[in-house]
Amino acid sequence: MALERGLQGQRLLLCVCGGIAAYKAADLVRRLREAGATVQVAMTEHAQRFVGAQTFQALSGLPVRTSLWDAAAEAAMGHLELARWAERVVVAPATANTLAKLAHGFADDLVSTLCLATTAPLTLCPAMNHRMWLHPATQANIALLRARGAQVVGPEDGPLAEGESGPGRLSEPAAIVAALVAA
Ligand SMILES: Cc1cc2nc3c(=O)[nH]c(=O)nc-3n(C[C@H](O)[C@H](O)[C@H](O)COP(=O)(O)O)c2cc1C
Repeated sequence: MALERGLQGQRLLLCVCGGIAAYKAADLVRRLREAGATVQVAMTEHAQRFVGAQTFQALSGLPVRTSLWDAAAEAAMGHLELARWAERVVVAPATANTLAKLAHGFADDLVSTLCLATTAPLTLCPAMNHRMWLHPATQANIALLRARGAQVVGPEDGPLAEGESGPGRLSEPAAIVAALVAA
C-alpha cells in the first residue's frame, strides 16, 4: 500500500549515510515515490561504499548528488538551490558520525552542508550498532537535534547486522513513510 499517496507533490531530499542499512534506503525511495513524493537523493562519500549512486538514480528517476565538488552537478542545480528546493529533508540511514555533525553545525561534506543550508524540517532515521546508539555522545547529539525540532524515527530494537541485538536497527521503510505522512 502506498499510504494513499499521503506525500503527493512533496519535494523530499533523502540524504543517505554510510551505514550497513544504506541498502534499505533504496526501498525507501521506491515507497516515497509510491506515496507521491518527488525524491532527490544525496549520498555521503561513505554511503557510496555500501550502495551505488546508480541504484538511487534509477529508483528516484533523478540525478544523485554525491559530492559538493561536482562542477557539472553544481551547474545543473547548486547545493544551495537543492537545499532550498527541499520541502523536507530525510536522513536515512543517519549514522552516528552524521548525527554528530548535524548536532554541532558541521558543514564539511555534501550532506552536512545541505542539512545546514536548508530551512526545511528534518527527519532523522538513525541506524547503528547498539553501543554506538547508547553512547552518551550519540544520545546527547540526538537530544540536541530533537530539541531543535527534528523528527526522529527509530531506531528499532532487534537483531543487528553483526549478530548482536539491541536498539539500532533502521526503522522499516514503510514505518518511515508512515511517520512522514503523519508529520
Ligand atoms: C561495514 C561497516 C558498517 C558500518 N555500519 C554503520 C552503521 O550502521 N551506522 C553507523 O553509524 N556507522 C556505521 N559504520 C561506520 C561509518 O561508516 C563511519 O562512521 C563513517 O565515517 C560514516 O560516514 P558518514 O556519516 O559520512 O556517512 C560502518 C562501517 C563499516 C565499515
